[in-house]
Parts: sequence; structure tokens; C-alpha cells
Amino acid sequence: MRTALTGLLGIRHPIVQAAMGYVSGPRLAAATSNAGGLGQIASATMSLAELDDAISETAGRTAAPFGVNLRADAPDAAERVRLIVGRRVPVASFAQAPKPELIAALKEAGVVTIASVGARRHAEKVAAWGVDAVIATGGEGGGHVGAVPTSLLIPQVAAAVDIPVIAAGGFFDGRGLVAALAWGAAGVAMGTRFLLTSDSPVPDAVKQVYLAAGLDGTVVTRRVDGVPHRVLRTTMVDHLERGGRAGALLRSARNAARFRAAGGLSWREMVRQGRALRQGTERQGTQRHGTGRHGTGRPDGGLSWGQVLMAANTPVLLRAAMVDGRPDLGLMSSGQVAGLIDDLPSCAELIAEIMAEAGRGLDRLEGLRKTGNQPR
Ligand SMILES: Cc1cc2nc3c(=O)[nH]c(=O)nc-3n(C[C@H](O)[C@H](O)[C@H](O)COP(=O)(O)O)c2cc1C
Repeated sequence: MRTALTGLLGIRHPIVQAAMGYVSGPRLAAATSNAGGLGQIASATMSLAELDDAISETAGRTAAPFGVNLRADAPDAAERVRLIVGRRVPVASFAQAPKPELIAALKEAGVVTIASVGARRHAEKVAAWGVDAVIATGGEGGGHVGAVPTSLLIPQVAAAVDIPVIAAGGFFDGRGLVAALAWGAAGVAMGTRFLLTSDSPVPDAVKQVYLAAGLDGTVVTRRVDGVPHRVLRTTMVDHLERGGRAGALLRSARNAARFRAAGGLSWREMVRQGRALRQGTERQGTQRHGTGRHGTGRPDGGLSWGQVLMAANTPVLLRAAMVDGRPDLGLMSSGQVAGLIDDLPSCAELIAEIMAEAGRGLDRLEGLRKTGNQPR
């Protein structure tokens, strides 16, 4: 299958592995790229030195193109861009809003740039800055999400910009790929589906919790870090959701204390990170008001101190599940699609099956046009 995306990225299949902190490192990224899709290293949870190592390891595991996902608001974003350019990484994608000067530096070096968007306005803005493609993520998706469903967001964004649109949020099979192409996208990106592969490094105990989830098994909560975050519904998340303000504060502080110990952070350092995050969140809330995916506005009355503590600990919470294999203690970002997934194929098997099913779907639709058969 040839689309504007396969041409742009030099990949065999229009399938991108979405960036996932603590999940999409060299092993998953290289397995995806070796299977003909685009694998991506999520760098937000890595230091610069760790990213350097991850790029080397990924390049050692695959000769195919792969990408690095980064945050434009990271204090060392410019150094990360220099690293990506210096190491000749073919693709750079931005989690959240990019910055024009970073895009310009990457493009000048011949790196393909991709921005994440949650609304048409956002897509138009980054297209004008010169990004080569956008990933548009609907509200079904895992992690930080907006409220517009994929089925409405993709046709709107695809009609608004001339660059390839990669559809994300809820994709897991060949039927979804065909639907995305019909809406005007040039391919799909998937997070939860790639987390649930045998190539993903997530501990098996945690994968089993995802596999057991039903379609009602996720919840979008602001109680973790102040912005809407789709996660698996667990006892801890339920407690956070149910408690009133005072209760939430107490529980947050109690959880923060537990996870502070698990993460080895000093209170001073945790509060410093919490303050920085609170300021960052308030700035983002103001900047992104009404922009969709991340533009969910300022959290009501700002964040409570309990939330600040939790927010500082969000990486620790994610790590507790994704790396330490403690679904009881940790936080598990997840798309609603977890409710439809019940196997753990390799990336090669997954991508081959998606492409075969998409081929069958396209044939069936073509057959409808020729013969006028009714759809089944
Ligand atoms: C476990 C997990 C971790 C994630 N971590 C990140 C991240 O670090 N940065 C980011 O921009 N998006 C992150 N996301 C969001 C994904 O990049 C992507 O938008 C989402 O998974 C797409 O929806 P899907 O899960 O329905 O495929 C994460 C998603 C999941 C499921």
C-alpha cells in the first residue's frame, strides 16, 4: 500500500507506533520499524544521555527508518534536536505543541518532522510552521487526550491541511486503517495496541491487566496531574475520582508519600518538581485553552497541593507499572481500545495481519462499487 505517509517516511506500511513513556524504547521501536512501520522512541522520560544510548541501540537493531518523540518545552530541547540531527535520526515527532525554531533546525538538517494535534486549528498552525505531517489523536486514545472522538476529528483535520494526517486514538486492526484512509488520513498511529505486543517491554503482569479490561475499563481523570488523562480504571484511580476535594488531597498526599519512597525522591526535590509542573500546567492551560487534545483549559482553580505532589510523581507512578510491574501501585495510561484487544502478537505479526485485513477490506469495498452488493 502506498500513501503520502509511506512516501514521506520511506516505510513499507502506513502504520506508526505512537510514543509511550517507559514503553516505547529501542526494543519496541526497532521491532515496529523492522516490520515495515515507523517505530518511535519516547524520550520525555529519558535523560539526554539515555536518549543517546537509546538511539544507538535502536540503530543497531534496525536499518529501517525510526523516529524520536520529544517535548518542545523540555529545558534541553535544543540539545535533543542537535542529538537527533547529529545521529541522523530520520524522523522527529513532538509530543504536545512544537516550536517553530526547533522545526526549522530539524528540517534544515533533512529530518522529517511530525506534530501531535487534537484540533483543526492546531493542525493549521503547525502546518504553517512547516511540519511535514501531523498525528491527530481523538478522545478514545490513551494518555493525555481531548474530548473530540477520532471519527469526527480525522475528517475535519484531513480536510483542513495539505500535509499527511496520521490518525490516532482507538486503532487496532485493518478495518480501522481502511476507515482512517476513508476519512482522508494517510495512515494510523497506535499506542495501546503496540503496548500489547510480545515485543513491548511492559511486564507480563501489567499486560494481563490491560487484556482483562473491557470497553468501560478506562477513565479520563484530572485527578492525577490536573489535565485529562485516559488511564485504566483501577482501585487507586477510583479512589482518586470518588473523593471530594479534601479527600482527594489527603489521598494524593498519601499516595505521593508512598511513591516518593518508591521513586527515591526527596520531599524537597518532589515539591520543586511539583512547583515547576504546576507552573508549566498553568501556562499550558492558558496557551492551549480550547485547542482540543491538550487544550483542555486551566484546571479548575489551579492544582491542589495534593495534585501537585501527584503530578510530580506521575512519572514515578507510570514507572511503577510499566517498568517495575506493579499494576496495584502504578498508573496505566490506556486507550479505550484495550477493551477490544485480547492477544499479544509480535509487531511483525500485528502489522502483517493489519495489512492483510485492510487489503481484504479494500477489496470488499471495491467489490461493492462494481457489483452493487449490499455491505454485510
Ligand atoms: C501507556 C501509554 C503511554 C503514553 N505515553 C505518552 C508519552 O509519553 N508521550 C505522548 O506524547 N503520548 C503518550 N501516550 C499517548 C500515545 O502517544 C497515543 O497518543 C495514544 O496511545 C493513541 O491512542 P491509542 O492508545 O488508542 O492507540 C501514551 C499512551 C499510552 C497508552
